[in-house]
Formats: sequence, C-alpha cells, structure tokens
Amino acid sequence: MPTTATSVNVVETIAEARAAIAKARADGARIGLVPTMGALHAGHISLVDRARRETDFTVMSIFVNPLQFGPTEDLSRYPRPVEQDEKMSSEAGVDLLFRPSVDEMYPAGRTITVIAGELGKDWEGTSRPGHFDGVLTVVAKLFNIIQPDIAVFGRKDLQQAALVSALVRDLDMPLEIVLAPIVRERDGLALSSRNRYLSDEERHRALVLNRALRAVRAQFAGGVTDVETLENTGRSILSEELEVKPDYFGVIDETTFKRPAVASGKSSAIVAARVGNTRLIDNMSLAAE
Ligand code: PAJ
Repeated sequence: MPTTATSVNVVETIAEARAAIAKARADGARIGLVPTMGALHAGHISLVDRARRETDFTVMSIFVNPLQFGPTEDLSRYPRPVEQDEKMSSEAGVDLLFRPSVDEMYPAGRTITVIAGELGKDWEGTSRPGHFDGVLTVVAKLFNIIQPDIAVFGRKDLQQAALVSALVRDLDMPLEIVLAPIVRERDGLALSSRNRYLSDEERHRALVLNRALRAVRAQFAGGVTDVETLENTGRSILSEELEVKPDYFGVIDETTFKRPAVASGKSSAIVAARVGNTRLIDNMSLAAE
C-alpha cells in the first residue's frame, strides 16, 4: 500500500520550511499557520480546519518550547506522540508540518527575547513567571520563519490569544490573527494535551471548572454585573471539589485582562486550578452564545 501518497510533508529545519513555503507562494497560495506543541487533539484540528477554510496552504508547527516552561513545570514529561501527531495532521489536511529541534530554534548565542509587558502581568503571568515571554518569543520566530498571511489560535488560552494579537499590533507584523472557539468534550471539559495526565477520578473532578464558569455566565445572564459577586460564585463552586486546588478565578475584560468596573458582554470568566499534579485552565465569555 502506498502510504506516502497521503502523508504530510514533514520538515525539521528552517531552511527546508522556507523552501517549501516559497514554492507554495510561487504557486500563488495564501499561507495559514497553526502553532502547536503537539499531542494533538480535536481542539488543534479545529484550528487546522479554520486555516484551511481561509487559506490555500496550511502549515502546522509542533515544537515543545522550553522557553515557556518554568523550572518546576512539565517540560520533560510533556507528551510527544510523534507518529500519532503526524498521522492526525496528515488526515486533517495539513500541507506542511514544521517540527524543529530545540537546537534548530535556539542555537547557542541567542540573546533576544520578546517581553509581554502589562497584558501578561496578571493571572497566567503571575502564576507562570516568564511563560508569556517564552510564548511570544517562539511565536515571533514562527511568524518570521513561515511568514503566514494568517495564524490561528484557540480561545482556550485566552490571555495568550490576547497577547499574540498585541504582539502583531505592537510590532507591526504583517499577518492576521484569527481566534477560534474552545472545543470541549460532551461533558464540558475543555480539550487539552494535559488531559491525558488525568486519572479517571481526576478527570471527573476537573468538570468543576466548567461548572463554575457556566454558573457565572448564568448569573450574569440573570442580571448580576458585580464582578466580585460573580467571582465569588465561581470560587464557591470550585471549593465543592476539595481535591481541586484553585489557582485563580477571575472576571476580566477580554482585551485588557483587567477586572472591569462592571461585567459586560466583553467580559470573560477565567479559571486555573490544579487537579492532582495537573494544572488546567479554562474560560468562558459572559456574552450569550
Ligand atoms: P498548545 O497548547 O499545543 O496549543 C496550540 C493551540 O491550540 C493554541 O492556540 C491553543 O489555544 C489551541 N487549543 C488548545 N486546546 C484547545 C481547545 N480545546 N479548543 C480550541 N483550541 C485549543 O498554546 C500553545 O500550544 C503554545 O503556547 C504555542 C502557541 C504553540 C507556543 O509555543
């Protein structure tokens, strides 16, 4: 069986990626980029679907970026199912899979880092010092390597999405950032590569994050706009699961990531919590669906 006919083109060097993209460009293709760290799931694939709808040539990057992991985080145990990822990206219709090594992305002597600034200060920025600088540095590199017309990011990582939009705006990068909705399991759990760390029991406990977010949205829909009241509702639901350790639960303005004076349709509830050894994040817009 000729399996190679349907296989995605995989490249591991920047030079090879540039050559493949130059060829697509010469054919007149619009280029879409979906940056990931692999361990692909339906959330990632939804971003590919979006890129394919809007462009002619979809590039996915898979790179577990050491710069965005703290010293006590899960860099070494982060899942790397290389063959399964290759198969999934191929079946999803990815045209080029860019899978560089750490040395390829960060050769000795590198010195420049992108700094997130104010928008990256709170929430994830407080819990994971340096994380967003690492994200923005690798994303800026990927944009320069691939030079896509659009790049698709998930609202699952809402603060990251806001920061990437700010990166493009503030550094005048010539591409459009497209944000895609959160893909969830039927029971509400947001898909995440880290869900595979969860035991059955932990996975069940993790549903409290979604319950808390939905309760806050329902309360807002019922007319409550006081931010503290909404946050207390979320926190109190989270506390029902004793084994779930909340990191933060907040109501924020989606563009500034500051608490608004009163909640509005431009606000989101955001949550981070540890379930066993696994740190999960989720969020929900307060706007009616
Ligand atoms: P990763 O966690 O692999 O996520 C890659 C992209 O998939 C991100 O834009 C993320 O928001 C999106 N995503 C993850 N789960 C999703 C879900 N359930 N629904 C919709 N989209 C989802 O985020 C990163 O990697 C990295 O920080 C990266 C941007 C690649 C930089 O290293």
